[in-house]
Amino acid sequence: MLRICPLADLPAGEAIRVDDVSPPIAVFHTDDGEVYAIDDTCTHQDASLADGWLEGCEIECPLHASRFDLRTGAVDAPPAKRGVRTHAVTVTDGDIFVTLSQDAPNLPPGVSV
Ligand code: FES
Repeated sequence: MLRICPLADLPAGEAIRVDDVSPPIAVFHTDDGEVYAIDDTCTHQDASLADGWLEGCEIECPLHASRFDLRTGAVDAPPAKRGVRTHAVTVTDGDIFVTLSQDAPNLPPGVSV
C-alpha cells in the first residue's frame, strides 16, 4: 500500500500526480468528497490525466478531451478506446493510501513501464 498524502493536502476538485511508481498514478479528490486513483497516463496518447479537467466522477484528458469514469476507468468519451486502470483507495486517519492494481496497465502506443 502506498501512502499518498494527508487528505487535507488534496482539496476537493484537485488531483495529484504520483510519479515515484511506474507507471505514474493520479489521485483525485472529487467535489463530492470521494477519492479515486487511476493510472496517470491517458490510454490514447502520452498525456497526464492529473492535468485534465475533473467534473463529478469524470476526468477529461487535457490533450484530446477523452473522458474516463474514475470509478471504473471506463471510457465515457473518445478518442480513447481503452479504459484506464484503476487502483483501490482508502483514507485512514486522515491519510490517503492507494493499493496498486495487479492488472496490466493500458498504456498508449510508444509508452512503456
Ligand atoms: S491523449 Fe488523452 S485523449 Fe488523446
